Amino acid sequence: MHKILIFLTFSVTLATSYIVDYGPVVKASQGAIWPKPKTQVISNNFNMLRPSEFTFETVGNSCDILQNALERYHTIIVTHLRRIRNRVKNDHENNKWRSKPEYSGRLTSVKVNLKQKCEKMPHVDMDESYDLNIAEQQATIESNSIWGLLRGLESFSQLLYHSPDAKFLLINDTNIYDEPRFKHRGLLVDTSRHFISIAILKEILDGMAYNKLNVFHWHIVDDHSFPYQSIKYPELTRGAYHESMIYSQQDIADIIEYARMRGIRVMSEFDTPGHTASWGASHPELLTKCGGIFTGKYGPIDPTIESNYDFIFSLFDEIVEVFPDVYVHLGGDEVGFECWQSNQNILNFMKQHNITSFVQLEELYIQKLIDKVHSLNVNSIVWQEVYTNGVKLPKGTVVHVWTGNQRNLLSRITRDNMPALLSACWYLDHLSTGGDWVKFYNCDPWDFSGNDNQKKLVLGGEACMWSEVVDDANIVQRIFPRTCATAEKLWSTEDVTDIEDAKQRLEEHYCRMRRRNINAQPPSSPGFCLV
Ligand SMILES: *[C@@H]1O[C@H](CO)[C@@H](O)[C@H](O)[C@H]1NC(C)=O
Ligand SMILES: *[C@@H]1O[C@H](CO)[C@@H](O)[C@H](O)[C@H]1NC(C)=O
Repeated sequence: MHKILIFLTFSVTLATSYIVDYGPVVKASQGAIWPKPKTQVISNNFNMLRPSEFTFETVGNSCDILQNALERYHTIIVTHLRRIRNRVKNDHENNKWRSKPEYSGRLTSVKVNLKQKCEKMPHVDMDESYDLNIAEQQATIESNSIWGLLRGLESFSQLLYHSPDAKFLLINDTNIYDEPRFKHRGLLVDTSRHFISIAILKEILDGMAYNKLNVFHWHIVDDHSFPYQSIKYPELTRGAYHESMIYSQQDIADIIEYARMRGIRVMSEFDTPGHTASWGASHPELLTKCGGIFTGKYGPIDPTIESNYDFIFSLFDEIVEVFPDVYVHLGGDEVGFECWQSNQNILNFMKQHNITSFVQLEELYIQKLIDKVHSLNVNSIVWQEVYTNGVKLPKGTVVHVWTGNQRNLLSRITRDNMPALLSACWYLDHLSTGGDWVKFYNCDPWDFSGNDNQKKLVLGGEACMWSEVVDDANIVQRIFPRTCATAEKLWSTEDVTDIEDAKQRLEEHYCRMRRRNINAQPPSSPGFCLV
C-alpha cells in the first residue's frame, strides 16, 4: 500500500500533464504513404482488394528486377491481410462498409507498365519518377524506368489498409505523380565497431526500400575491426574481431544483388589514412610508428613510405571491381596528427619535401588516392575535414558534411562549386528522450543561404548508424523509424514540414514495417500496432 502511494506521488510530480485519455495518443493514418508523394489527389471512393484473387499484370517491358519485385509485393499484400485477420477475434461488428455509397467495387489487378528498357544497376542519375492511378476498379503504375516502378509498387502497397471487419483490404481511388527531391538518399551502416550479420543487413535493406532510400553506404572497416575478405590480401581479416565475423566475397555479392533488386546502390567506404588501426593486424608496415611518449603505438597510414601507395592502390583496384558503384567513399576524417608529429622519419621527409604542415602531408596522401581512384573512372566522396583542411580537390569530388555548423559549411562548399552530402543532423547514435525522430525531421538540406545553383549541388544526404553501441540485437530499432524522418526529408518536397500529419503517417508506417518483419520501435507515444 505504502509503495503504491509513493509511486502515485511520483507520477503526479514527474508527468507534465496527468489528465490523459484512454487509447493511443497518436491516431494512425490509413493508407497514407511515407515518404509523402510529390503530388497526390485522393478520393473518398474506395475499392476492395481480395489478396487471393489479386494479380499484377505487366503490360510493358519486364526483367528480373521487376518479376522479383512483383513477387515480393504480392507476398506483402497477402501477408498484410493474413496477419491482421489472425488478430481479429470478433468479426460480427463493422461489416457495414460495403453498403457505403463511396464503395466502388473490387480491384482485382494492377497494370504495371515499364515504358522503356530495364536498366541493370541502380545508379546516381536513375529516374525514380512514376505515375500511379486508381479509379473505378482500374489501377496502373507507370514509369520510364524500373527504379520508378519499384517506388510506385511500394506506394501502391502502402495505400492498402484493412477493412473494419479485417476481411479484406481497401484502397481509395487516387492519382499520384511522384519523384524524389534529392537523388542521393542514403543510410550509412558501420560494420566495424560491431559486426552486423548478413541477415540483419538484409532486414535493413528491406527497411530502406520501404522508405525509398537508395544508397547503402557500407562503412565496412575501421580502427576496431577489418571484416572485409579481400581477394588479393586475405590476410587483412586478421584484423577482424573473430573468424566468424568476416564478409566473404560471396556475402558482399549477395548484399549487392539484394540491394540491386530494391533499387539501392551499395557504396563502400574504406576510410584512410586515419581509422586504420585494424589494417595493422596484418600489415603494420602501413601504419606510422609513433615515437616520443607514444612509442609502441601505431598511428594513421604513413604517407611518406612509397610502397604503402602500391599496397593501397592495389587494394583500391580490387575495391572498385568488387563494388560496382561509380562512387567510392574515401573517408579522410579525424586524422590524428600527434603520431606523425612524433615520428622522426616523417619530420625528415617533410623537411626534405618542403612540407610545412601536417595538413599538407595529409593533402599529399589524399590527392594521390583521389587521383588513383579517378584514373579508375570512379568518383570520390570525402568527409568534410579533407575540404576544411584546404586539400585541393578535383572537380566533382563530393564533400560529406558530418559535424559543426552545417549551414555555413553547405554554403561554403557549394559556393566553391563542390557537390555536397548532408549527415550532420542525422546521426542515429545521438539519442534523445521520447520520439526523437522529430529533431531529424526538422532538418532540411536546403536550409542554408545560397542561390539555386548552390542548392542543386546538394546531392542529398544520409542517416548514419555508427555502431559503437549497436549490434544485431538492437541496430534495426535504432535505425527505424528514426531514419524514416531522414527519408521523407530527402524524398518529399521542401514544404512537407507538418509534424502532426507526419506523426499520424509515421504511426501507420512503423506498424507497416513491423508487419513486414522490420523490427522498428514505436515512433512517438503510447499506442498499439496489430502485427
Ligand atoms: C478513403 O475513403 C474513405 C471512405 O470513403 C474515407 O473515409 C477516407 O477519408 C479516405 N481516405 C483518405 C486518405 O482520403
Ligand atoms: C619551400 O617553400 C617556401 C614557401 O613556399 C619557399 O619560399 C622556398 O623557396 C621553398 N624551398 C625549397 C627548397 O623548395
